[in-house]
Amino acid sequence: MRCVDTACRTSLAVYSLMEEPVMRIGVLTGGGDCPGLNAVIRAVVRKGIGVYGHEFVGFRDGWRGPLEGDTMPLDIQAVRGILPRGGTILGSSRTNPIKIDGGVDRIKENLAEGGIDALIAIGGEDTLGVAKQLFDRGVKVVGVPKTIDNDLNATDYTFGFDTAVNIAMEAIDRLHTTAESHHRALICEVMGRHAGWIALYAGMAAGANVILIPEKPFDIEKVCAYVESRFKTRYAPILVVAEGAHPLEGQMELQSGELDAFGHVRLGGIGEMLAKEIEKRTGKEARTTVLGHIQRGGTPSASDRVLATRFGLGAIDAVNEGDFGKMVALRGTDIIRVGLDEATAELKTVPVSRYEEAEVFFG
Ligand code: F6P
Repeated sequence: MRCVDTACRTSLAVYSLMEEPVMRIGVLTGGGDCPGLNAVIRAVVRKGIGVYGHEFVGFRDGWRGPLEGDTMPLDIQAVRGILPRGGTILGSSRTNPIKIDGGVDRIKENLAEGGIDALIAIGGEDTLGVAKQLFDRGVKVVGVPKTIDNDLNATDYTFGFDTAVNIAMEAIDRLHTTAESHHRALICEVMGRHAGWIALYAGMAAGANVILIPEKPFDIEKVCAYVESRFKTRYAPILVVAEGAHPLEGQMELQSGELDAFGHVRLGGIGEMLAKEIEKRTGKEARTTVLGHIQRGGTPSASDRVLATRFGLGAIDAVNEGDFGKMVALRGTDIIRVGLDEATAELKTVPVSRYEEAEVFFG
Protein backbone atom coordinates (compact mmCIF):
# COMPACT_ATOMS: atom_id res chain seq x y z
CA MET A 1 0.00 0.00 0.00
CA ARG A 2 1.27 3.48 -0.82
CA CYS A 3 0.67 6.66 1.06
CA VAL A 4 1.46 9.89 -0.73
CA ASP A 5 -0.95 12.60 0.31
CA THR A 6 -1.31 14.30 3.65
CA ALA A 7 -4.87 13.15 4.25
CA CYS A 8 -3.83 9.53 3.73
CA ARG A 9 -0.86 9.96 6.10
CA THR A 10 -3.02 11.50 8.79
CA SER A 11 -5.58 8.76 8.55
CA LEU A 12 -2.84 6.11 8.69
CA ALA A 13 -1.33 7.81 11.74
CA VAL A 14 -4.72 7.61 13.45
CA TYR A 15 -5.69 4.13 12.29
CA SER A 16 -2.28 2.44 12.27
CA LEU A 17 -2.77 1.23 15.82
CA MET A 18 -5.96 -0.58 14.85
CA GLU A 19 -5.14 -1.87 11.38
CA GLU A 20 -3.03 -4.82 10.27
CA PRO A 21 0.57 -3.70 9.58
CA VAL A 22 1.21 -2.83 5.94
CA MET A 23 4.67 -4.40 5.83
CA ARG A 24 6.94 -6.19 8.27
CA ILE A 25 10.36 -4.55 7.94
CA GLY A 26 13.69 -5.74 9.34
CA VAL A 27 16.34 -3.20 10.38
CA LEU A 28 20.05 -3.88 10.98
CA THR A 29 23.22 -1.90 11.63
CA GLY A 30 26.51 -3.37 10.37
CA GLY A 31 30.22 -2.54 10.45
CA GLY A 32 31.97 -0.18 12.85
CA ASP A 33 29.44 1.71 14.92
CA CYS A 34 28.95 5.41 14.48
CA PRO A 35 27.22 8.26 16.34
CA GLY A 36 23.79 8.75 14.76
CA LEU A 37 22.84 5.11 14.15
CA ASN A 38 20.14 5.30 16.81
CA ALA A 39 18.77 8.50 15.27
CA VAL A 40 18.30 6.63 11.96
CA ILE A 41 16.58 3.69 13.68
CA ARG A 42 14.28 6.06 15.58
CA ALA A 43 13.29 7.99 12.45
CA VAL A 44 12.62 4.80 10.47
CA VAL A 45 10.44 3.35 13.22
CA ARG A 46 8.63 6.57 14.15
CA LYS A 47 7.62 7.38 10.58
CA GLY A 48 7.21 3.75 9.58
CA ILE A 49 4.70 3.03 12.33
CA GLY A 50 3.22 6.49 12.94
CA VAL A 51 2.74 7.57 9.36
CA TYR A 52 2.69 4.43 7.24
CA GLY A 53 1.44 1.77 9.64
CA HIS A 54 4.29 -0.70 9.15
CA GLU A 55 5.72 -3.11 11.71
CA PHE A 56 9.42 -3.56 12.53
CA VAL A 57 11.81 -6.26 13.66
CA GLY A 58 15.34 -5.47 14.82
CA PHE A 59 18.11 -7.80 13.67
CA ARG A 60 20.95 -7.97 16.14
CA ASP A 61 24.62 -7.38 15.29
CA GLY A 62 24.63 -6.57 11.59
CA TRP A 63 24.35 -9.45 9.13
CA ARG A 64 24.76 -11.93 11.99
CA GLY A 65 21.12 -11.20 12.94
CA PRO A 66 19.41 -12.32 9.73
CA LEU A 67 22.02 -15.05 9.27
CA GLU A 68 21.17 -16.63 12.63
CA GLY A 69 17.60 -15.38 12.91
CA ASP A 70 18.53 -13.32 15.97
CA THR A 71 15.90 -10.60 16.40
CA MET A 72 14.62 -8.09 18.94
CA PRO A 73 11.38 -6.11 19.20
CA LEU A 74 11.50 -2.73 17.47
CA ASP A 75 8.42 -0.68 18.26
CA ILE A 76 7.86 2.94 19.26
CA GLN A 77 8.65 2.10 22.89
CA ALA A 78 12.00 0.56 21.91
CA VAL A 79 13.13 3.78 20.22
CA ARG A 80 12.07 6.21 22.95
CA GLY A 81 14.99 8.32 24.19
CA ILE A 82 17.61 6.93 21.83
CA LEU A 83 18.16 10.04 19.66
CA PRO A 84 21.16 11.38 21.64
CA ARG A 85 22.63 7.96 22.42
CA GLY A 86 25.82 6.87 20.67
CA GLY A 87 26.31 3.30 19.42
CA THR A 88 23.37 1.26 18.19
CA ILE A 89 20.57 -0.37 20.17
CA LEU A 90 20.66 -3.20 17.59
CA GLY A 91 24.34 -3.99 18.09
CA SER A 92 26.78 -4.35 15.20
CA SER A 93 29.35 -6.73 13.78
CA ARG A 94 31.56 -7.23 10.77
CA THR A 95 29.97 -10.61 9.95
CA ASN A 96 30.19 -11.16 6.20
CA PRO A 97 27.51 -13.66 5.05
CA ILE A 98 28.98 -13.77 1.55
CA LYS A 99 32.10 -15.44 2.98
CA ILE A 100 30.01 -18.04 4.82
CA ASP A 101 28.99 -21.17 2.91
CA GLY A 102 25.27 -20.93 2.15
CA GLY A 103 25.14 -17.59 4.02
CA VAL A 104 22.88 -15.78 1.55
CA ASP A 105 20.43 -18.70 1.38
CA ARG A 106 20.27 -18.88 5.16
CA ILE A 107 19.44 -15.17 5.31
CA LYS A 108 16.70 -15.60 2.70
CA GLU A 109 15.22 -18.54 4.60
CA ASN A 110 15.25 -16.66 7.91
CA LEU A 111 13.62 -13.61 6.34
CA ALA A 112 10.90 -15.76 4.84
CA GLU A 113 10.37 -17.63 8.10
CA GLY A 114 10.11 -14.36 10.04
CA GLY A 115 7.63 -12.94 7.53
CA ILE A 116 9.97 -10.08 6.69
CA ASP A 117 8.82 -8.16 3.61
CA ALA A 118 11.74 -5.75 3.38
CA LEU A 119 15.06 -4.88 4.99
CA ILE A 120 16.71 -1.58 5.88
CA ALA A 121 20.50 -2.06 6.14
CA ILE A 122 22.41 0.77 7.79
CA GLY A 123 26.13 0.50 7.16
CA GLY A 124 29.23 1.44 5.25
CA GLU A 125 30.83 0.08 2.11
CA ASP A 126 30.93 -3.53 3.37
CA THR A 127 27.41 -3.75 4.81
CA LEU A 128 25.94 -2.09 1.73
CA GLY A 129 28.00 -4.35 -0.55
CA VAL A 130 26.26 -7.33 1.07
CA ALA A 131 22.91 -5.50 0.74
CA LYS A 132 23.56 -5.12 -2.98
CA GLN A 133 24.29 -8.84 -3.38
CA LEU A 134 21.13 -9.75 -1.47
CA PHE A 135 19.10 -7.37 -3.62
CA ASP A 136 20.51 -9.10 -6.71
CA ARG A 137 19.25 -12.35 -5.18
CA GLY A 138 15.71 -11.02 -4.73
CA VAL A 139 15.76 -9.50 -1.23
CA LYS A 140 13.87 -6.19 -0.97
CA VAL A 141 16.43 -3.96 0.65
CA VAL A 142 17.12 -0.24 1.10
CA GLY A 143 20.48 1.02 2.37
CA VAL A 144 21.46 3.90 4.63
CA PRO A 145 25.09 5.08 4.43
CA LYS A 146 27.06 5.19 7.64
CA THR A 147 30.71 5.74 8.41
CA ILE A 148 32.71 8.18 10.48
CA ASP A 149 35.28 8.03 7.66
CA ASN A 150 33.01 9.94 5.21
CA ASP A 151 34.46 7.88 2.37
CA LEU A 152 31.30 6.78 0.52
CA ASN A 153 31.34 8.36 -2.90
CA ALA A 154 27.63 8.47 -3.58
CA THR A 155 26.81 10.81 -0.70
CA ASP A 156 28.24 14.24 0.10
CA TYR A 157 28.47 13.39 3.80
CA THR A 158 27.82 10.45 6.09
CA PHE A 159 26.57 10.97 9.65
CA GLY A 160 29.15 10.27 12.35
CA PHE A 161 31.83 12.16 10.47
CA ASP A 162 30.99 15.54 11.99
CA THR A 163 31.01 14.07 15.51
CA ALA A 164 34.34 12.29 14.93
CA VAL A 165 35.91 15.49 13.55
CA ASN A 166 34.72 17.49 16.56
CA ILE A 167 36.08 14.91 19.00
CA ALA A 168 39.45 14.92 17.19
CA MET A 169 39.51 18.73 17.00
CA GLU A 170 38.94 19.06 20.73
CA ALA A 171 41.70 16.54 21.43
CA ILE A 172 44.14 18.39 19.16
CA ASP A 173 43.27 21.73 20.83
CA ARG A 174 44.25 20.14 24.14
CA LEU A 175 47.45 18.70 22.72
CA HIS A 176 48.54 22.21 21.62
CA THR A 177 48.83 23.57 25.15
CA THR A 178 50.68 20.65 26.66
CA ALA A 179 53.01 20.40 23.64
CA GLU A 180 53.97 24.05 24.12
CA SER A 181 54.62 23.65 27.84
CA HIS A 182 57.00 20.74 27.25
CA HIS A 183 58.52 21.76 23.91
CA ARG A 184 57.53 18.44 22.39
CA ALA A 185 56.25 17.40 19.02
CA LEU A 186 52.86 15.81 19.60
CA ILE A 187 51.29 13.46 17.09
CA CYS A 188 47.57 12.72 17.03
CA GLU A 189 46.63 9.53 15.19
CA VAL A 190 43.04 9.50 13.93
CA MET A 191 40.92 6.93 12.07
CA GLY A 192 40.86 6.65 8.29
CA ARG A 193 42.19 3.54 6.60
CA HIS A 194 41.90 4.59 2.97
CA ALA A 195 40.62 8.16 3.20
CA GLY A 196 42.04 11.04 5.20
CA TRP A 197 38.85 13.09 5.68
CA ILE A 198 38.91 13.02 9.49
CA ALA A 199 42.61 13.95 9.58
CA LEU A 200 42.08 16.72 7.03
CA TYR A 201 39.05 18.29 8.71
CA ALA A 202 40.23 17.91 12.31
CA GLY A 203 43.74 19.03 11.38
CA MET A 204 42.49 22.11 9.56
CA ALA A 205 39.96 22.98 12.26
CA ALA A 206 42.55 22.67 15.04
CA GLY A 207 45.49 24.27 13.22
CA ALA A 208 47.77 21.24 12.90
CA ASN A 209 51.26 21.92 11.58
CA VAL A 210 51.34 18.78 9.48
CA ILE A 211 48.49 16.53 8.27
CA LEU A 212 49.30 13.10 6.83
CA ILE A 213 46.68 11.15 4.92
CA PRO A 214 46.58 7.76 3.14
CA GLU A 215 46.02 9.39 -0.25
CA LYS A 216 49.44 11.07 -0.24
CA PRO A 217 52.53 9.09 0.85
CA PHE A 218 54.59 11.43 3.02
CA ASP A 219 58.23 12.37 2.79
CA ILE A 220 59.68 11.90 6.28
CA GLU A 221 62.47 14.38 5.56
CA LYS A 222 59.93 17.07 4.73
CA VAL A 223 57.90 16.20 7.84
CA CYS A 224 61.03 16.57 10.00
CA ALA A 225 61.83 19.89 8.32
CA TYR A 226 58.33 21.14 9.24
CA VAL A 227 58.86 19.97 12.81
CA GLU A 228 62.21 21.75 13.10
CA SER A 229 60.94 24.97 11.58
CA ARG A 230 58.08 24.96 14.05
CA PHE A 231 60.43 24.58 17.02
CA LYS A 232 62.50 27.52 15.72
CA THR A 233 59.49 29.79 16.17
CA ARG A 234 59.25 28.52 19.78
CA TYR A 235 55.91 26.96 19.00
CA ALA A 236 55.46 23.21 19.44
CA PRO A 237 54.53 21.16 16.36
CA ILE A 238 51.28 19.21 16.25
CA LEU A 239 51.02 16.48 13.62
CA VAL A 240 47.74 14.82 12.69
CA VAL A 241 48.13 11.45 11.03
CA ALA A 242 45.41 9.18 9.62
CA GLU A 243 45.90 5.54 10.62
CA GLY A 244 46.30 4.57 6.94
CA ALA A 245 48.96 7.19 6.13
CA HIS A 246 52.29 5.80 4.99
CA PRO A 247 55.72 7.13 4.01
CA LEU A 248 57.22 7.16 0.55
CA GLU A 249 58.48 3.71 -0.32
CA GLY A 250 61.64 2.62 1.43
CA GLN A 251 61.72 5.52 3.93
CA MET A 252 60.48 3.73 7.06
CA GLU A 253 59.75 0.16 8.08
CA LEU A 254 56.03 -0.51 8.61
CA GLN A 255 54.10 -3.08 10.65
CA SER A 256 51.51 -5.29 8.96
CA GLY A 257 48.26 -6.14 10.72
CA GLU A 258 45.68 -8.95 10.82
CA LEU A 259 42.61 -8.93 8.55
CA ASP A 260 38.94 -8.58 9.50
CA ALA A 261 36.03 -10.54 7.88
CA PHE A 262 35.90 -8.11 4.97
CA GLY A 263 39.66 -8.43 4.36
CA HIS A 264 40.65 -5.03 5.80
CA VAL A 265 43.94 -4.75 7.64
CA ARG A 266 43.50 -3.70 11.29
CA LEU A 267 45.67 -0.61 11.39
CA GLY A 268 47.15 1.53 14.12
CA GLY A 269 50.77 2.20 14.83
CA ILE A 270 51.79 4.79 12.25
CA GLY A 271 51.73 7.54 14.92
CA GLU A 272 54.14 5.62 17.16
CA MET A 273 56.47 4.86 14.26
CA LEU A 274 56.41 8.48 13.21
CA ALA A 275 57.30 9.65 16.73
CA LYS A 276 60.33 7.34 16.85
CA GLU A 277 61.50 8.49 13.45
CA ILE A 278 61.10 12.18 14.31
CA GLU A 279 63.07 11.72 17.56
CA LYS A 280 65.81 9.85 15.69
CA ARG A 281 66.09 12.41 12.93
CA THR A 282 65.57 15.71 14.83
CA GLY A 283 66.71 14.87 18.37
CA LYS A 284 63.48 16.44 19.67
CA GLU A 285 61.05 14.60 21.92
CA ALA A 286 57.98 13.33 20.05
CA ARG A 287 54.93 11.59 21.58
CA THR A 288 51.81 10.07 20.12
CA THR A 289 48.16 10.06 21.17
CA VAL A 290 46.00 7.48 19.40
CA LEU A 291 42.34 8.58 19.54
CA GLY A 292 41.02 5.21 18.32
CA HIS A 293 37.45 4.32 19.20
CA ILE A 294 36.92 7.51 21.22
CA GLN A 295 36.15 9.05 17.81
CA ARG A 296 33.25 6.67 17.33
CA GLY A 297 31.81 6.71 20.84
CA GLY A 298 29.32 8.93 22.63
CA THR A 299 26.60 11.30 21.64
CA PRO A 300 26.25 12.54 18.04
CA SER A 301 26.66 16.23 17.15
CA ALA A 302 23.54 18.24 16.27
CA SER A 303 24.44 18.09 12.61
CA ASP A 304 24.82 14.28 12.67
CA ARG A 305 21.52 13.86 14.53
CA VAL A 306 19.73 15.86 11.85
CA LEU A 307 21.43 14.10 8.92
CA ALA A 308 20.83 10.66 10.45
CA THR A 309 17.17 11.52 11.11
CA ARG A 310 16.71 12.72 7.51
CA PHE A 311 18.36 9.53 6.18
CA GLY A 312 16.00 7.44 8.32
CA LEU A 313 12.95 9.30 7.02
CA GLY A 314 14.23 8.93 3.44
CA ALA A 315 14.84 5.21 3.87
CA ILE A 316 11.36 4.43 5.15
CA ASP A 317 9.86 6.53 2.34
CA ALA A 318 11.83 4.41 -0.19
CA VAL A 319 10.60 1.17 1.41
CA ASN A 320 7.03 2.47 1.51
CA GLU A 321 7.19 3.30 -2.19
CA GLY A 322 8.71 -0.10 -3.02
CA ASP A 323 11.85 1.58 -4.37
CA PHE A 324 14.29 -1.20 -3.42
CA GLY A 325 17.97 -1.69 -4.31
CA LYS A 326 18.56 1.96 -3.40
CA MET A 327 20.59 3.86 -0.83
CA VAL A 328 19.59 7.25 0.53
CA ALA A 329 22.25 9.92 0.08
CA LEU A 330 22.88 13.59 0.70
CA ARG A 331 23.36 15.72 -2.40
CA GLY A 332 23.76 19.38 -1.47
CA THR A 333 21.01 19.78 1.09
CA ASP A 334 18.66 17.23 -0.46
CA ILE A 335 18.14 13.59 0.48
CA ILE A 336 18.16 11.63 -2.76
CA ARG A 337 18.28 7.93 -3.72
CA VAL A 338 21.07 6.21 -5.63
CA GLY A 339 21.43 2.59 -6.75
CA LEU A 340 23.18 0.31 -4.25
CA ASP A 341 25.69 -0.50 -6.98
CA GLU A 342 26.62 3.18 -7.29
CA ALA A 343 26.70 3.46 -3.51
CA THR A 344 29.44 0.89 -3.17
CA ALA A 345 31.30 1.34 -6.45
CA GLU A 346 34.03 3.73 -5.40
CA LEU A 347 35.59 5.17 -2.26
CA LYS A 348 35.56 8.92 -1.84
CA THR A 349 39.13 9.91 -1.13
CA VAL A 350 40.61 13.35 -0.44
CA PRO A 351 41.35 15.11 -3.75
CA VAL A 352 44.79 16.69 -4.22
CA SER A 353 43.27 20.18 -4.32
CA ARG A 354 41.72 19.76 -0.85
CA TYR A 355 45.05 18.57 0.56
CA GLU A 356 46.82 21.53 -1.01
CA GLU A 357 44.49 23.89 0.85
CA ALA A 358 45.65 22.35 4.14
CA GLU A 359 49.32 22.36 3.11
CA VAL A 360 49.38 26.19 3.13
CA PHE A 361 49.47 25.95 6.93
CA PHE A 362 52.16 23.25 7.31
CA GLY A 363 55.42 23.94 9.12
O1 F6P B 1 35.24 1.98 9.06
C1 F6P B 1 35.17 2.81 10.16
C2 F6P B 1 36.36 2.67 11.04
O2 F6P B 1 36.08 3.51 12.11
C3 F6P B 1 37.72 2.94 10.40
O3 F6P B 1 38.09 4.28 10.37
C4 F6P B 1 38.64 2.14 11.27
O4 F6P B 1 39.82 1.76 10.60
C5 F6P B 1 37.84 0.94 11.59
O5 F6P B 1 36.49 1.36 11.56
C6 F6P B 1 38.22 0.29 12.90
O6 F6P B 1 37.17 -0.48 13.34
P1 F6P B 1 37.23 -1.70 14.35
O7 F6P B 1 38.30 -1.40 15.33
O8 F6P B 1 35.87 -1.70 14.95
O9 F6P B 1 37.48 -2.91 13.55
